[in-house]
Amino acid sequence: MPEDSGKELTMVTCSAPVNIAVIKYCEYRMILKTTTTVACSRLFQEDRIWLNGKEEDITQPRLQSCLREIRRLARKRRSDGEADVDTAGLSHKVHICSVNNFPTAAGLASSAAGYACLVYTLSRVMGVEGELSVVSRQGSGSACRSMHGGFVQWIMGQQGDGKDSLAQQVEPETHWPELRVLVLVVSAERKPVGSTSGMQTSVETSILLKHRADSVVPARMKEMIEAVHKRDFTAFAELTMKDSNQFHATCLDTYPPIFYLNDVSRCVINLVHRYNRHYRETKVAYTFDAGPNAVIYTLQQNVEEFVQVVKHFFPPETNGGQFLKGLPVAPTTLSEEL
Ligand code: ADP
Ligand code: CO
Repeated sequence: MPEDSGKELTMVTCSAPVNIAVIKYCEYRMILKTTTTVACSRLFQEDRIWLNGKEEDITQPRLQSCLREIRRLARKRRSDGEADVDTAGLSHKVHICSVNNFPTAAGLASSAAGYACLVYTLSRVMGVEGELSVVSRQGSGSACRSMHGGFVQWIMGQQGDGKDSLAQQVEPETHWPELRVLVLVVSAERKPVGSTSGMQTSVETSILLKHRADSVVPARMKEMIEAVHKRDFTAFAELTMKDSNQFHATCLDTYPPIFYLNDVSRCVINLVHRYNRHYRETKVAYTFDAGPNAVIYTLQQNVEEFVQVVKHFFPPETNGGQFLKGLPVAPTTLSEEL
């Protein structure tokens, strides 16, 4: 864009999907998404951000890292003589407005979609191109996976701090069209422990996590890529469930322990296993991230029935509330009929 074209306002809006790790910390795009608008103007006095309509603290280190890094890349491109750098975008302050169409900080990866979207939108405003997943990682580790669609593998970098790790597409979103994702919102409340600080404590204290990282995850990644490649639902589902369970075991092995699952989450786990046992076939899988909400994978032909089963055991609240929310269901009451 021409330098100082006299524009008072430049504005760009983008959206990014959330992503769910099937080997914790490859995944799937979903309709849960973040929409972010970045405006820049010489009339703005300072950088500001609004999340879901509420102004947030722009001085948070992760936000600052993302802003700083994009501006640095834009400056570098400008000094390299690239013509499309928006110099107005570079020298002016930005106002960021972001909305998640799903609960924020409740274990549904808002940080991933949020930072992926923020970094991408900023890059459009400032005219930055190239590999942005490294930048988005400054905001949230899992954000680099939301920068691409389909099935994505997160590849560790060379530096110990992981800041140079990036995400690579394993298969495009068209690869497995029958695969479906259901999200059962157990609780829309903000989780007590943020994913990043929780992960930090786990790295420091959990022996199981170390074993998992050294001996379990590398082999599982290979098996998972193979399962996705062959569209082998049984293999995909079993790996996904085992990996979710082991991840939550490492949370329990963290000292002090971290509890992300609640009684309703555990009921969902029981229900899935009973359902699969009933059919003597693995038709449905669950995974839980750092929160109590269940992400269910199944094939299209099973969706309708499984949704009926869920509704049967976890009737939606009559006041229009969310699925499963806060229901005191004891595990023993589950699916005796299955
Ligand atoms: P989650 O399980 O939803 O990822 P985290 O604790 O990992 O929860 O991250 C939540 C934090 O991510 C929020 O407090 C906020 O700082 C950041 N975040 C979430 N959504 C956005 C967004 N749309 N834009 C910018 N930052 C966001
Ligand atoms: Co997160």
